Amino acid sequence: MRVIEKISDLKAIIRSQKSSGKTIGFVPTMGYLHQGHMSLVKASKDENDFTIMSIFVNPTQFGPNEDFDKYPRDMARDTKMAEAAGVDVIFAPLKDEMYPARYKTYVDVEDITNVLCGKSRPSHFKGVTTVVTKLFNIVEPDKAYFGQKDAQQVIVLKKMVRDLNMNLEIVTCPIVRESDGLAMSSRNTYLTPEQRIGALVLSKSLFEAEQLIKDGERDAAKLIGHISERISEVSFAEIDYIEITDIINLEKVDTINGKVLIALAVRFGKTRLIDNVIVEV
Ligand code: PAJ
Repeated sequence: MRVIEKISDLKAIIRSQKSSGKTIGFVPTMGYLHQGHMSLVKASKDENDFTIMSIFVNPTQFGPNEDFDKYPRDMARDTKMAEAAGVDVIFAPLKDEMYPARYKTYVDVEDITNVLCGKSRPSHFKGVTTVVTKLFNIVEPDKAYFGQKDAQQVIVLKKMVRDLNMNLEIVTCPIVRESDGLAMSSRNTYLTPEQRIGALVLSKSLFEAEQLIKDGERDAAKLIGHISERISEVSFAEIDYIEITDIINLEKVDTINGKVLIALAVRFGKTRLIDNVIVEV
């Protein structure tokens, strides 16, 4: 496995892989890898000849008071994990390689970036769509792999690919959870032991809502009320949002019908965690 920092070096490798007819699978990450990331690598390796992972903590998707500086980083550990999983190349550019002085161009998907996480993180998705566009242009993958964990992110990126006629397929992979149900996240390392236990209420309340729907509940407000009550039992949990939306336009639904996304974001101290389920009736 090679670790590449320069765009020109990566492009040379990709040119040679493509000229020998190899398909390219791409797994973009911000590192501090866990089994959620590794599930994307596995999917990419199953479906492509050559797998590239990027590790880049993208400054443009963090707000001014967010955790860019303290976002966990461990390149030595990430390199070992990626190599063991069979990643062919890690692309780990420095900030100036991606955003040189006087960088001016951004990609913005409208409307669906202003709801859910976009409400409390106003410029977040513009940073994501910009860096992912740059990465797609550099890597030119056949397929790129994203996790359902960041449900809005993958919906926004699919919209961007469609709207801008980008020449690749986005594949969504299921959420990987700890054995007790907590969705894996690099940010889980911020949690104190007490917050870590409290955070279990996220997946538990989502699974309860899912069960209520299976048992016949169709009223979105009642389901949100149930989740909200359960989360409020954890005294230090601060709800950012709990919403039930359709899975294309992310518009709120009143009545459960077809496929819906139940998504939430909750703060535990300074740590903001997200989780979701998709339910179909
Ligand atoms: P990061 O948070 O490192 O996540 C990289 C990819 O791993 C994303 O597609 C995310 O949805 C997926 N992922 C994270 N936790 C997961 C889990 N528990 N189960 C399944 N997949 C999981 O998302 C980003 O980085 C950035 O926004 C990025 C797309 C790289 C752009 O900077």
